[in-house]
Amino acid sequence: MEANNKLVVVAGATGKLGRLVIEDLLARPGVRVRALVRDLGKPEAVALRERGVETLALDVATATDAEREAAVRGAFAVVSAVQGGPDVIIDAQLALLRAAKAAGARRFLPSDYSYDLFGLPEGVNVNSDWRRALAMRAEAEVNDRFEVVHLMQGIFADRFVLGFLGMFDGERRVVRYWGDGTTPIDWTTWEDTARYIVAAALDDRRVPARLYVAGDRLDVLAFARTWEAAKGQPLTLERLGSVDDLRAEVQHQLTTQPGNMYAWLPLMYARGMVEGQAVHPAKHNERWPEIVPETVAQAIARGAI
Ligand SMILES: NC(=O)c1ccc[n+]([C@@H]2O[C@H](COP(=O)([O-])OP(=O)(O)OC[C@H]3O[C@@H](n4cnc5c(N)ncnc54)[C@H](OP(=O)(O)O)[C@@H]3O)[C@@H](O)[C@H]2O)c1
Repeated sequence: MEANNKLVVVAGATGKLGRLVIEDLLARPGVRVRALVRDLGKPEAVALRERGVETLALDVATATDAEREAAVRGAFAVVSAVQGGPDVIIDAQLALLRAAKAAGARRFLPSDYSYDLFGLPEGVNVNSDWRRALAMRAEAEVNDRFEVVHLMQGIFADRFVLGFLGMFDGERRVVRYWGDGTTPIDWTTWEDTARYIVAAALDDRRVPARLYVAGDRLDVLAFARTWEAAKGQPLTLERLGSVDDLRAEVQHQLTTQPGNMYAWLPLMYARGMVEGQAVHPAKHNERWPEIVPETVAQAIARGAI
């Protein structure tokens, strides 16, 4: 794809996914990158400048509209990879999106990068609720010249993400699951997600507003078998309870530890996965055949899990 000197502005540039997106952008001849960072002195921001990336100080939540517009001026696309609460995910991203539109950008990618958050009913997962709330407000901004693209790639095939979700403990070689373990799950690596983000950001064609990509689809039991086959080691399977037990456990944790998101957020993601509503309803990989995403087996073989 010819990049034609496009400028891509990346918010959340010092984060894990944001840095991978920028790495991929830097590999594209003719693409210019502007990284929005909160703290220009943060080592990740310094490292970006050392790579020749333009860094601009902007807290997307506290900036003025004029500052946001200046930050995205000249952009072909604005990619967000921020993380945060509703003030960041809904309010600040909406303001940045409007700034991108006002500045004449072709598209905005909010920081979704999830399973199908549009398939979930309200209240299953607060992170998905906030992203859907943003999507509803963003819809009013879309027109022939300005797109908002929600990229959904499933869960990251990564030991730390699976550890956070409570699904996999590599040290103890345990896989934990709720329900019967047979609900399909969409998977993609961090690196392939960054590739799809960049492909979607730079595309000259109109991009589906709900963009589904995936490297694999495996239920949790198949994941365990895949890991065992790749590593030649047995795993212990631990069934934590039924889907109803999981729903009750989310409520219990929310009631007893409302301030401790580690107690309930992983369970909310587990619920999203096990109830099956977050399975991708479509797959758009073929739009970019040059990207051949890793399967879970390949990610395991290279040590990602
Ligand atoms: N599907 C999955 O399995 C999965 C797993 C993990 C993450 N994700 C998604 O991927 C996305 C990125 O996650 P990540 O883990 O890469 O995030 P991360 O490493 O925590 O980085 C978050 C970034 O957001 C920036 N940020 C936060 N508040 C900001 C503000 N007010 N103004 C400007 N920048 C702000 C942070 O800046 P500072 O450096 O200044 O703090 C940082 O650069 C999120 O949407 C997340 O939900 C998906």
